[in-house]
Order: sequence, then C-alpha cells, then structure tokens
Amino acid sequence: MNATQEQLKLKLQQALVAAFGDEYIGVDPILEPAKNPKFGDFQANVALSLSKKLGMQPRAIATAIVEKLDVSEICESPEIAGPGFINLKLKTSYLEQQLKVINSDPRLGVPKAQNPQKEIVDFSSPNIAKEMHVGHLRSTIIGDCIARILEFRGHEVKRLNHVGDWGTQFGMLITHLVDTYGRKMMLMENSLGTYLDGDINIGDLVEFYKEAKKKFDNDEDFRERSREAVVSLQSGETFTNAAWKRLCEVSRKEFQVIYDLLNVKLEERGESFYNPYLSKVVEDLETAGLVEENQGAKCVFLEGFTNREGDPLPLIVQKTDGGYNYATTDLASVRYRIQEDGAKRIIYVTDVGQATHFNQFFQAAEKANWIPEDVELIHVTFGLVLGEDGKKFKTRSGDTVRLKDLLDEAISRARKDIENRLAKDGREESEEFIKNVAEVVGLSAVKYADLSHNRTKDYVFSYDQMLALKGNTAPYMLYAYVRTQGISREGNIDFDNLGENAKVLLTENAEFTLAKHLLQLDEIISEVEQELLPHRLCDYLYNLSDKFNKFYESCQVLKSEEPTRTSRLILCHLTARTLKLGLDLLGIKVLERM
Ligand code: ARG
Repeated sequence: MNATQEQLKLKLQQALVAAFGDEYIGVDPILEPAKNPKFGDFQANVALSLSKKLGMQPRAIATAIVEKLDVSEICESPEIAGPGFINLKLKTSYLEQQLKVINSDPRLGVPKAQNPQKEIVDFSSPNIAKEMHVGHLRSTIIGDCIARILEFRGHEVKRLNHVGDWGTQFGMLITHLVDTYGRKMMLMENSLGTYLDGDINIGDLVEFYKEAKKKFDNDEDFRERSREAVVSLQSGETFTNAAWKRLCEVSRKEFQVIYDLLNVKLEERGESFYNPYLSKVVEDLETAGLVEENQGAKCVFLEGFTNREGDPLPLIVQKTDGGYNYATTDLASVRYRIQEDGAKRIIYVTDVGQATHFNQFFQAAEKANWIPEDVELIHVTFGLVLGEDGKKFKTRSGDTVRLKDLLDEAISRARKDIENRLAKDGREESEEFIKNVAEVVGLSAVKYADLSHNRTKDYVFSYDQMLALKGNTAPYMLYAYVRTQGISREGNIDFDNLGENAKVLLTENAEFTLAKHLLQLDEIISEVEQELLPHRLCDYLYNLSDKFNKFYESCQVLKSEEPTRTSRLILCHLTARTLKLGLDLLGIKVLERM
C-alpha cells in the first residue's frame, strides 16, 4: 500500500495545483490511512490546513480539489466529510488487481531498497570465559531479526560478534590454567616453536573463571603472576598467546551451541582484533585536542554527561596504568568499520544499561570528525528480562540462568504440550515428528516472546505465556500457518498452481479486511527497517493470523463454488506466504503440521 499511498498523494498534489495555481506545488496533501474503515481507506486533511491562507471555508477548498482530482482508477468517487476531510475508498477492482500483483511477486510486494548499502549489525557479543546471559540472548535474537530484515531489503549486511576476548582477566585465567594443568600438559611445543593443544579438558569455563577469580582475590602471589601474564600476553609472547587462544576456543565452542540451536549466523571479530589500532586512536584524539589528563588517566570530556554528584563524566580512553579499555576499542572499531569495511550504517544491539557508553563514544568519534555525513551510528537498546516475580530473571536457587538450560526447558515444555495433545486426540506420530515440533515450537516461543515486546521496555519471561496456543505467541502464529497448509492437504490443492488466470474476487467483509491487511506488508517492513522495532512486525503477523482465522470462520473455502473457491484459495495461499516470510524475518521456521 506504500505505492498506492504515494500515487494518491501525487494525484492530490496535482489537483491542488490545478485548483489553486503553481504557488501550491509541493504542498503536502496530508494523506493518512483512515482511522475508521467506515469512511474509506484514506483521508486527506489538506483543505483544513489551507483555509486561512486561501481565505476560504475548508469544505469549499475540498470541493475545489476534488473537482480536479482524478483517482478513478484507484478509488470510488471521493467524498467530502465533516469540516472538509477528503475521504478516499479503494475500488474493489483496484484491490483485486493489487492482490494479483503481490501474488505473482516472490517478494510479496516488498521492494528492495532503492539504495542498498553496507550495514553492520554488531550483536550478541558475549564475553569469553564468562556466562552468556539473557541479555546476550536478547541481543542475539533482536540483532538477528534486524539483520534478516536488512538483508531482505537487499542491503549488504555484516553480522559482527564483538566478543569480549581481551582484558586483564586473561592474566588470571592463564595463570590458573598453568597452575592446574602444568605448562607441558596444557600446550605442547612442536619443532617449529608453536604450540598445539595438549590433552586437557577445561570443561566448564565459567566455573574455571570463578576458581581463578577466587585465587586472584585471595592470593598475593597468584595476583602477581597474573599481572605478569597480562604483560606477557600483551607483548605477544608465544606461550601466553597460545594459552589465550585456547581459552577463547573453549568459549567459542560453547557459544556456538547456542547459535546453532537458534540458527543464528555471526562473524566473530572480537575486541582483540582492534588491538593494533588502539594507540593511534588515543594519539588522534590528542591531536584533535580532545584529550585531558585526569588523575593520570586520559579522558575525553563531552557535553551532557554528568555523574551522580553532577560533576562532568568523562570518557576514559587510556587508564592510569597505560591500558586501554572498552571505549578505546569501540572507538578503534568504529573507525575500522567505516574506513575498512565501508559501512554506511552501524547498528549496535545491547541493553539500555550501556546507553551512556554508546552515546559517549558516538559523540567523541563525531567530535574527532571520524563520522562522515553519510554514515549513521545507531544504538538499538533493549530492556531487562524479568522473572515472573518482576525481579531480574534468575533460577529458583537464585543463580543466573544458563542459556542452554533455558532453551532446553522451552523445548521440553513444548514437547509435553504436543504429547498431551496427541494423547488427547488419539493421534500417533513418529518420534522424529514430535522431536522436530517440540524444537521448533520451543525455540520459536522464546524468540517470539522476546521480539513481540517493544524492545525498549523490560519484559517478563514466562514459559506458560510464550507457549500458549492463544494470544500473541509463536504457537498461535505457527498454528495459523499449519491451518493454511491443512486446507491444501484436505483439498489436495497445489497452492503454487492455481491456474494462470486465477484471480481474487472480493465480496465478503472478512475478505476485504484480510486482503487489505495482506497488502500492507511493504509498509510494515519499511517501518521496521527505519525504526528497528521488530515488535511491529509481530503485531502485523498476529493481526494477520487473527484476520485469517475470522475469514476462515465466516467464509467457506473448499466447499464454495468457482470462481469464489479459487479466489479464496489464493487468499489462503497469500496468507501462508506472508506468514512464512514474516516469521522467517523473525528467525522463526514454520511447520507444515504440528
Ligand atoms: N561484550 C559486551 C557485553 O557483554 C557487549 C559488546 C557490544 N558491542 C560493542 N561494540 N560494544 O556487554
């Protein structure tokens, strides 16, 4: 409908000029979708806004515009309502024609971006040797969805996993590794002087981290050796670097389990990648005159940032001990992404708690003139995941929830649901079928629950809610799709071959409502692309399922006469394709049966 609205806008502009002269070229006709379907599909409010300027009653202005307005191909004759609104109702023949257009388009009427560009989505980004927590899960799910939508629009998307793989914590991890396994066991030196993995199994890296931390906090000698390890790591010494790589490898494997389950693709480019560029970042900031020393630390002072006491809150780019930090790395990476990757839009997906960090380094980069006019930096924020008690999401015993456990739990609950349904209906299905349904439903439920809430707010994680068959949930959506596929199975219908001349004929209200909704996909996608709010797409799909169900309840499909039957089958097929595409953009697979 984007294209329709554009066309109507143009026609209104032409009529305005024809009625009142060239002075009105380019005036916005203020065309909006009608608030109440009773009054048609669109409403133009321009007559009211021109009343003063023209010294005329709005109704008279509206009448003059309508006299010159030629929209007969698209709309019924325009009506003037109230003080001077111009109401436009789309012609049935026009809607039918539009449905034909989207039906023959593999993209369902969603155009590719006119100016495709290089875009980076920086998402997931957990930290090595630490737990990947629900915040990272949100980032992974939301980031993947945004990347999918940009890809679908034809942009060249780089999905970057900015993992936290550098920092002083590696000193203690390496030291603990050596203490536990011994240098020899851990890594074996070959004749080339490089190191190979020894025969050890670090096992649970998060536990390992906790042990190391405990020693670090309590043992002076351990602390000292850890500091030495950091120095040696940073100086590029071979053994410590091999040990560091080994630790990263263990974490990487664990993260990959989650990514595989969620079917999310990422390119790892961790913080360590930018090490060679850090000193230059500080140097260039200094040259730009942005750096001030504050108690030995190098700081950039920015507008609008104060701490709790109301004092200016600087962005530290080099610590007193000379070390670089999270901000320095992000500054280096933003430059690299613009200069080397050629990114025009860089999207960072993290919890809102990091807003200050992002706003600060965006501003610092801006001030240093590193961000060209045509490059946009965006922080896509999200709220917390809460437990059903409204507090931060935890296990019953108060520990942080392991993502693998969380996803497994969703799958096993989905499995119970399907087993119950099968038992109730006396249905028999293979183990393979049950397993697949449970996996798709469980994982979709988690993803959908996250995406369907406005990301900027906190949301409550509830298995019961997300797995419910009714409401704005993944199972509800999956069912609507299954229903469409059930129709094709029942009628032995090949949706893809409904005949060359098959067309949609709209008569019933429920058909109109469904058809108009189907025609809105392009609008929704471009909205989501601009605002980066996936819940809008979820709302759209939820309403689609709802409208489809109402249509299906009130209109016979298989039992109706031709040509109505084929027309309705096309509506079913369009619904199915729209659901499948929309869910795919959310990272959700559909099921043919469930
Ligand atoms: N590793 C960080 C964390 O766990 C997230 C990194 C986000 N990306 C970035 N470029 N800062 O909080």
